[in-house]
Amino acid sequence: MSKKLIIANWKLNPTTLKDAQKLAGSISLKAKNKVVLCPPTIYLSQIDYPNLGAQDCFWADKGSHTGQTSPAQLKDLGIKYCIVGHSEKREVGDTDEMVNAKVRACLAQKIIPVLCVGFGTTVEQDDLEVTDVLRAQLNINLKGVDPSKVVVAYEPVWAISKGNPYQTRAADADHAEKMAIFIKTKFKAGKVIYGASVNVNNAKGFLSQPNIDGLLTGGVSLMAKDFNTIINL
Ligand code: PGA
Repeated sequence: MSKKLIIANWKLNPTTLKDAQKLAGSISLKAKNKVVLCPPTIYLSQIDYPNLGAQDCFWADKGSHTGQTSPAQLKDLGIKYCIVGHSEKREVGDTDEMVNAKVRACLAQKIIPVLCVGFGTTVEQDDLEVTDVLRAQLNINLKGVDPSKVVVAYEPVWAISKGNPYQTRAADADHAEKMAIFIKTKFKAGKVIYGASVNVNNAKGFLSQPNIDGLLTGGVSLMAKDFNTIINL
C-alpha cells in the first residue's frame, strides 16, 4: 500500500513554545506514512520537523492587512502545506469565495492547500444531501484552480471533536469512502483525506479505504503516543 498522508492540526494548542517543541520532538521521524505537523502559526519558525503546514493563511502576499499571514511568508519559512477553509474558520466568517482566494494564493507560492469541506452537514443527512453541500462548496472553492494540486479534506462538521476524539462519533468509513469517490470523480482532486474524530480505534478503517489518501487529525494529534500509532498504521 502506498504511503498515506497524515496531517496534524494542533489548532490553538499548546500554549507555550516549549510544549510545542516537546510535542513535535515526540513525533516519530521514521513513520510509515507521510506526516505533516500544523502547529499554531506563531510557532512555525521554531518547530523542527520535516513537513510543516500552517492552519490558515491570507490571500494577499503583502500589504496593509493587519494580523494576517501570507503564503509568501509561509513559503519563505519552508512551509509546504496550508489548511484552508476549516469549518472553525468558516464559522467565524470565511466564505467560499475567500477560501477560493486562499487556495489560489497558496498554489501561486507552490504551497499545497489542504482544502476542508463538509461544513453544514449534520449527522442526519444522507449521502445525497452531503454531496449537495460538497458540490456547492467545491464549485466555488476550486474555481480557476488545478484540482490535481489540491488535497481535499472531507470533514463532516458534526463529527469534529471538541478536543477529545474518543468522546465524539466519527463518520462511518464507508460513508467517507463514498464522499472521497465523489470528490475525486466530480472534482478531480489530487488527494482526498478524511478528518473528524479520528482516533487509534477508527484510523485503520479510514486508511484501508482505497480512495481515502490519508487523515486530517485534530485532538489525537496532541496525544503523542496515539498519534505515533496512527502514523505507523
Ligand atoms: P478532531 O479535529 O480530530 O479533533 O475531530 C479534526 C479537525 O478539526 O480537523
